[in-house]
Amino acid sequence: MHINCCPCISGEMDSGDRSDLISPTTSSPPSHIVTIPFPGRGHINPMLSLCLLLSPKTLTVTIIVTEEWLNIINSDHPSPSLPSNLQIRSIPNVLPSERTRGSNYTEFFNSVMSKMADPVQRVLDELNPPVDVVIGDALLPWVAGICEKRNVSAVSLWTESASSFYALYKFDQLDAAGGLPEDFSGVEELTYLQDVSSTHIAGLLPNATTLDLLRAMSRDYYWFHTAHSVLTTSFDNLESSAMTKIRSDFSIPIYPIGPLIPHRLPPSPPPSPYLQWLDSQPESSVLYVSLGSFLSISDSQLEEIAMGLMESKVKFLWVLRDKPLCVDEDTGLVLPWCHQLRVLCHSSVGGFLTHCGWNSTLEAVFAGVPMITYPLFWDQQPNSKLVVEDWGIGVRLKEYHGEEIVRKELVVKKVRKLMDLGDEESKGMRERAARLKEMCGEALGVGGSSQQNLDDFLKQFISRKV
Ligand code: UDX
Repeated sequence: MHINCCPCISGEMDSGDRSDLISPTTSSPPSHIVTIPFPGRGHINPMLSLCLLLSPKTLTVTIIVTEEWLNIINSDHPSPSLPSNLQIRSIPNVLPSERTRGSNYTEFFNSVMSKMADPVQRVLDELNPPVDVVIGDALLPWVAGICEKRNVSAVSLWTESASSFYALYKFDQLDAAGGLPEDFSGVEELTYLQDVSSTHIAGLLPNATTLDLLRAMSRDYYWFHTAHSVLTTSFDNLESSAMTKIRSDFSIPIYPIGPLIPHRLPPSPPPSPYLQWLDSQPESSVLYVSLGSFLSISDSQLEEIAMGLMESKVKFLWVLRDKPLCVDEDTGLVLPWCHQLRVLCHSSVGGFLTHCGWNSTLEAVFAGVPMITYPLFWDQQPNSKLVVEDWGIGVRLKEYHGEEIVRKELVVKKVRKLMDLGDEESKGMRERAARLKEMCGEALGVGGSSQQNLDDFLKQFISRKV
């Protein structure tokens, strides 16, 4: 086992003020909170943000990741600015590499289920002070067993939308009752659930492979029933109908404390060529393009998107992790990685072509940037529906996450539409995106719902222990 104390994370994550630090002499606060994220970018990022929210409110916070993730975090964030009471511990690399996760997701998922718990327990055994509370990713059911054995409270962190949480529950109910039809298309109950228009079970089910995955996920996330409470990365007013449904169906306390994104950006970022390039572009003129952290698209689809972007004449900044593509600076920039939230918050960025991962969706909401949606997998289809239909802050490029290729003509049309600041529909989307941004700021602000929910979560936790 390898233990690494306090490695470096970026200057974006400030240590916060520690005025409300719970002193060790108060009744029974959680003094050591341990967090265990699912090993993927879309889960580790929000868990790290949660650790930073918790660090001023407790004595010690520990996050446990694989060695590979420890290295990724260190190289993403080279300066030593973690709060002194936040430590990162690592387990050996017992899983397939993050670099190949997308190519065999089932194998990766099975390894997470069978190989992580033992080394995590060994780290827990060595922690001093001992752990009081474990916050585990909702997709790590073995966290419940570990906590039961140690007689410590387990909290589940749900890193997708509240709507998907509810869809999974409804799916499981139907499945358990033997009510799943052979063909999902056109089954009203599986498309839009009453009072939660964004809940779209059929969107999670494009093919049989996903049906198996869906069964595995709905089985695994169920451990939240035995948890002390559930935290979500969303915020109250973003998905109020889904939250109301969840709260009425479950007695377990649910706290939306988001958006859980690294939003405390320092005023002067380290200089980087892509930010300098953005500085030189007119306001709201650049389309940011990123299709997530681990899935890839086919070469032919990539080509159609590339040709469409170039023919649109809209400048773009495109994150393409594993494929080189040369364009001149008058057309756009192509990078293997960037600081996404900083890019989205740049005044030159006027739109986001996204796969609709939940973190990317929340980051765009935070930045007030309208979207062009291109879902690839899993919850991204329902997220795309939230963006386009429920919130009215985006247009669809791809209807379903299937095999069909989106042609360059459609790319040109959608990109020009969204990025045309004079277009009435585009203006409407921008206005609604600006309103959502405001709501997001209110939730995060002093006395806002997310701060209040975090405080309630901690208080409720203390009162349980007394
Ligand atoms: C996965 C699933 O795809 C997603 O649907 C689910 O909600 C969470 O897990 P992922 O594909 O990684 O997520 O997408 P997303 O949730 O959007 O997370 C990607 C993260 O990587 C974001 O926080 C984004 O800011 C970050 N990122 C991405 C960068 O910092 N730089 C980049 O260049 C690209």
